[in-house]
Amino acid sequence: MTEMFAGNRVVAHTGARYPIIQAPMTWVARAQLTAAVSAAGGIGVMETSSVDLDVTRREFEAIRAVTDRPFGVNLAILFLRQNEAMERAILAWIIEHGVRFVTTSAGSPRRHVQQLHDAGVVVYHAVPTLEAALKAADAGVDGLIVEGAESAGIRNQEEVSSFVLLQAVRERVDLPIVAAGGIVDGRGMAAAMALGAEGVAMGTRFVASAESPVHPNYKQAIVAAGTDATFLLPRPPRAKLRTLRTPAALALLEGTAAPGRMDSVIEGLYVGGDVEGTAGTAGQSAALVHEVRPVKDIIEDTVAGFWREIDRLAALRPGSTPR
Ligand SMILES: Cc1cc2nc3c(=O)[nH]c(=O)nc-3n(C[C@H](O)[C@H](O)[C@H](O)COP(=O)(O)O)c2cc1C
Repeated sequence: MTEMFAGNRVVAHTGARYPIIQAPMTWVARAQLTAAVSAAGGIGVMETSSVDLDVTRREFEAIRAVTDRPFGVNLAILFLRQNEAMERAILAWIIEHGVRFVTTSAGSPRRHVQQLHDAGVVVYHAVPTLEAALKAADAGVDGLIVEGAESAGIRNQEEVSSFVLLQAVRERVDLPIVAAGGIVDGRGMAAAMALGAEGVAMGTRFVASAESPVHPNYKQAIVAAGTDATFLLPRPPRAKLRTLRTPAALALLEGTAAPGRMDSVIEGLYVGGDVEGTAGTAGQSAALVHEVRPVKDIIEDTVAGFWREIDRLAALRPGSTPR
């Protein structure tokens, strides 16, 4: 069979069958989900934001027990910097245990690029603006994860949607781009690739997957979400959080409640299923998620849908057989 995605740099860098990445997500992107994505031909990315080598080691070994397909590790620089001894230990451990693909986020990648490159590790950095993309390219990363304002998670003050941001980065930077934000299927993937990406990352779509470890209420809140189900909650001094429009999130916006720690979202929402009483994150892409599905089906349908869109567009050429 002819190789799919031949010449695609994200596939070459990750060793995955498809340029489809499961975005890193605190607590959610651990063994159960990450292994399922890698086993299905995508690239699972394990999170390390607990900054605990025992957790990293445990989850890493649990992934390896399920699949020998490649997976990546995310380093959330801001979190790791809070415990430099643990940061060094986690870095040394993942290098020693054969991780070949690392994504960095929340902070400058400059801190780790050299050490990772010396060990033969490919580094992609997540950026929310053109300026951050130029800085990351200058720091020597191998690829960019370009996160539009539609994305779930902590966002930049500057709200640039993927449609413009992907093209703006593509114009100025020649590195492979992975598009994140607003993508749940092959149509979104084809659109992102047309705008200059060579791969896609999905977060919200995988939260509402069968293998995602979160409470069913949270998955159902994503399934039920419409296009107005999330908003950007200011997180002074400079960030915003895209959150579900719940009573708890609106109380934070109005200043009638104080922000809780991340632990309260993990316990309250991810484990406890209290959607209304927490400010859990979700992307605008939640509006496009209509069902909780197994990871394998999500990935296979995304690939099939991608080729369908490519064929549909190619049929617009003069002389093509109408489809
Ligand atoms: C539940 C959840 C938790 C997340 N946690 C993190 C995180 O800890 N670090 C990070 O860099 N991004 C985090 N993100 C953002 C994702 O990495 C990714 O950029 C985003 O989900 C892409 O948009 P999408 O949700 O529309 O696919 C999180 C997203 C979700 C849905």
